[in-house]
Amino acid sequence: MNAATAARLPGHPHIARQDGALQVEGRPLAELAQKYGTPLFVYSKQWMLDALAAYQRGFAGRDAMVCYAIKANSSLGVLRVFAEAGCGFDIVSGGELARVLAAGADPAKVIFSGVGKTRAEMREALAAGIGCFNVESEAELDVLNAVALKDDRRAPVSIRINPNVDPKTHPYISTGLKGNKFGVAHDRAVAIYRHAAALKGLKVVGIDCHIGSQITDASPYLEALERVLDLVEAIEAAGVPLHHLDFGGGLGIDYNGDTPPAADALWQQLVTRLDARGFGQRRLIVEPGRSLVGNAGVCVTEVLYLKPGEEKNFCIVDAAMNDLPRPAMYQAFHQIVPLAERAGAAATYDVVGPVCESGDWIGRDRALQVQSGDLLAVLSAGAYCMAMASNYNTRGRAAEVLVSGKTATLIRRRESIDDQLASERFSD
Ligand code: LLP
Repeated sequence: MNAATAARLPGHPHIARQDGALQVEGRPLAELAQKYGTPLFVYSKQWMLDALAAYQRGFAGRDAMVCYAIKANSSLGVLRVFAEAGCGFDIVSGGELARVLAAGADPAKVIFSGVGKTRAEMREALAAGIGCFNVESEAELDVLNAVALKDDRRAPVSIRINPNVDPKTHPYISTGLKGNKFGVAHDRAVAIYRHAAALKGLKVVGIDCHIGSQITDASPYLEALERVLDLVEAIEAAGVPLHHLDFGGGLGIDYNGDTPPAADALWQQLVTRLDARGFGQRRLIVEPGRSLVGNAGVCVTEVLYLKPGEEKNFCIVDAAMNDLPRPAMYQAFHQIVPLAERAGAAATYDVVGPVCESGDWIGRDRALQVQSGDLLAVLSAGAYCMAMASNYNTRGRAAEVLVSGKTATLIRRRESIDDQLASERFSD
């Protein structure tokens, strides 16, 4: 990209405007929208790899594995980027297992999280030879043991500890507090580990925690780390050795002037504490999702209509809550930026989609200078957008393009109405 004319947009680590046009890796978004239509998700491979590199710098010289939490964005083309970069994967369903295997993952680098694994999912994951089950309850331990014994296997397990730490994020994405459904209580951990170690179908390999998502402060991580290490000492004193320590994901990204620590800075801080407590050489696992892909993607949408209202002006676009569910679900903020700048004064709009709900909004009170037919980019849309997309209002899911240097690859074609109707019947 020509540094003289490319200007980075404020509040985003990568997106730049060159000669007036918004770009991803030097590729004008308008060109891609014209070719593939809208709404369109566009991802940058390099920006994903840059985000991964920050973790790798933080773990330099350590025995560490980054397991990308694929729930953030499970498209095969995205998974392949991380598989080729040597990452492991954190999955939460049999469907996600099938996805990572289809993308070429090494099963030994796959860990399986989640509070509600079914027997069938356990069986599939055991047969695939995954690296670890992150078990979330005593009942699950017993079921996994039974499933493994029946198939004459031993399931590698880690137990998810609920450290009772406040991650200071949206309540729907806090997971490490006593009132949450996740993990086992700190006070019960030693007894549960003793029980697990006695079960013949299980092999205890580690311990894990995950305290929440979009965490923008290092302190909850430091607090959780101390509490997990206290437990590791107690569990090992009870005669159960732990091979790895998994600290989950959760690191936030900058959506709107948020200032999360960089992954390398955070992990340098955390490994310093691990060293101080004598755990610096232990195998470390992390499960980042959002921080690897969130700022590597945008959603391009077309302005359909401008509708002046009595109290508000509406800018109605062709993307909706079924494509970008985060504002409706968590009142989340995504920057919305025109692909091409227009001269003149901006007006204030609520940017909304065509879905028949007042909750279908993408941005509120945004100053925009736009006309119908203009294209807008919804930024930081790489995580928890396409992966949470639905067919509500019988809307087909958007197409996705992965840009890498000069190459733009359609990694998912737009969903057709035939795709949507294919599994439905009038009779059986
Ligand atoms: N590990 C476990 C066990 C998790 O439950 C999650 C996310 C992660 C790792 C990855 O967390 P991340 O690094 O992406 O924060 N849909 C919400 C976020 C839900 C997060 C669920 N668990 C959103 O759009 O904000």
